[in-house]
Amino acid sequence: MSSYLSGMNVLVTGASDGIGAELAVKLAQNGAGSLILAGRNKSRLEETAQRCKVPCRLVVADLATSEGVDQLLSEISGEDVDGLVNNAGVGLGGRFEDLSVEDQDRMIYLNCQALTRLSHTLLQSMKDRERGFILLVGSLIGYAGGPGMAAYSGTKGFVNRFAESLNWEMKDQPIRILLLAPGVTQTSFFKTAGISEDHIRAGQMSPEDVAGEAIRGLLSDRGVVVAGWRNRMLLFLVRFAPRWLVGIVSRKMFSKILSPGHQAGECDA
Ligand SMILES: NC(=O)c1ccc[n+]([C@@H]2O[C@H](COP(=O)([O-])OP(=O)(O)OC[C@H]3O[C@@H](n4cnc5c(N)ncnc54)[C@H](OP(=O)(O)O)[C@@H]3O)[C@@H](O)[C@H]2O)c1
Repeated sequence: MSSYLSGMNVLVTGASDGIGAELAVKLAQNGAGSLILAGRNKSRLEETAQRCKVPCRLVVADLATSEGVDQLLSEISGEDVDGLVNNAGVGLGGRFEDLSVEDQDRMIYLNCQALTRLSHTLLQSMKDRERGFILLVGSLIGYAGGPGMAAYSGTKGFVNRFAESLNWEMKDQPIRILLLAPGVTQTSFFKTAGISEDHIRAGQMSPEDVAGEAIRGLLSDRGVVVAGWRNRMLLFLVRFAPRWLVGIVSRKMFSKILSPGHQAGECDA
């Protein structure tokens, strides 16, 4: 058990499923004293809480709206939050022009604005108490870009850059900032994004393995965790290949989402 996380009170958004649920469990296993689990699906939050085996407070809130973020912040106001895991996020698959503006607005709010507001509010009290961390879940696609998920790629580009810049900004403070950039992970993410499983190539990681790498990265204050050696190799190629080549490969990888028969994703954000 890590002494760094020992007794910490940690807020995890998107804790009802996938990577967020596994992060919550691993935080508890590594010493977190209590958790605030946020999401919209109460019964799934309860399932995560049971797996965590530490005191958990559940907050049901729709973080794709400013009212939902207000509600979450008001429910935890006055409470010392030592760690924030900004994990809640959704994707939208399909050609940009076929996706509704409303769905994209909600996705952008959830993936970027909610995460920024929560970080801004909670960081101040962490600084005052000289203790805390913020873990932000970006994505490999935020480095590469993805035709067929253009707006989603943009939101994750924002998270990747924001997290890394904040990490550099906070180097003189006792606050850890970690960017987790997963590649394709076996969760409900693609179904929710309206992308069929067989449109996604092999090499997927389990959410448990992704969360495990993230927590090890947090404990060793690594700053950035790209989960999985295959994804680290892919990122190496993305960084050194000319952008036109990245574009050709991306178009090939996402060709089924771009094909005329593909139904643009229905946003469940
Ligand atoms: N799976 C991948 O291949 C992959 C790759 C790279 C990055 N990521 C990122 O990893 C993060 C977690 O995704 P995942 O793969 O674990 O997907 P997931 O299994 O679908 O989980 C998404 C989580 O976000 C929550 N959420 C969705 N809409 C919400 C809303 N409007 N308000 C509050 N919470 C909301 C969901 O909870 P409720 O439904 O209960 O609200 C759920 O707990 C996301 O930021 C995603 O972009 C995923």
